[in-house]
Amino acid sequence: MKKVSIIYWSNGGNVEIIANAICEGASIGDVEIETKHVADASIQDVLEADAIAFGSPAMINDDIEEIDMKPFINKLKELEIRNKPLVLFGSCGWRDTKFIDKWEKNMEDYGFKVLGKLAVKDSVEQDDLRKAKELGKLLSLDN
Ligand SMILES: Cc1cc2nc3c(=O)[nH]c(=O)nc-3n(C[C@H](O)[C@H](O)[C@H](O)COP(=O)(O)O)c2cc1C
Repeated sequence: MKKVSIIYWSNGGNVEIIANAICEGASIGDVEIETKHVADASIQDVLEADAIAFGSPAMINDDIEEIDMKPFINKLKELEIRNKPLVLFGSCGWRDTKFIDKWEKNMEDYGFKVLGKLAVKDSVEQDDLRKAKELGKLLSLDN
């Protein structure tokens, strides 16, 4: 059975809401899905998954969260990723959603195949949830 890992950081709940919607969207297929806060995730979760979603808010200078998420992502640099399908998602409070474009470039450099991304400004609206479910579907269906 195909395995999908959804790994995120959230404190206020916005990114967690998107993670849950991605999980719901991915549930259409015959897939095993694990959704974890990055503090509970391991590199093994990335290696064993056929498709992944990473989520983070923009935190300080429009970067991904720096205490848990950034060190986790940095560890992936050393791995053989080879086009593993990936979705990126996140939330930001101000400025724009450039942080997710920067993150996308970074993940492509590490060897991931980015299927899609979603950056939500302020609170999560119905339309954002619809987009998140679509991304989940992509993760579930992509080979
Ligand atoms: C300490 C801190 C730093 C932040 N830095 C940024 C930032 O640089 N750019 C930005 O757009 N939003 C920034 N935000 C806003 C968060 O990205 C936003 O509130 C987000 O929705 C939080 O996600 P969460 O509810 O899942 O924790 C910051 C928030 C906090 C608390």
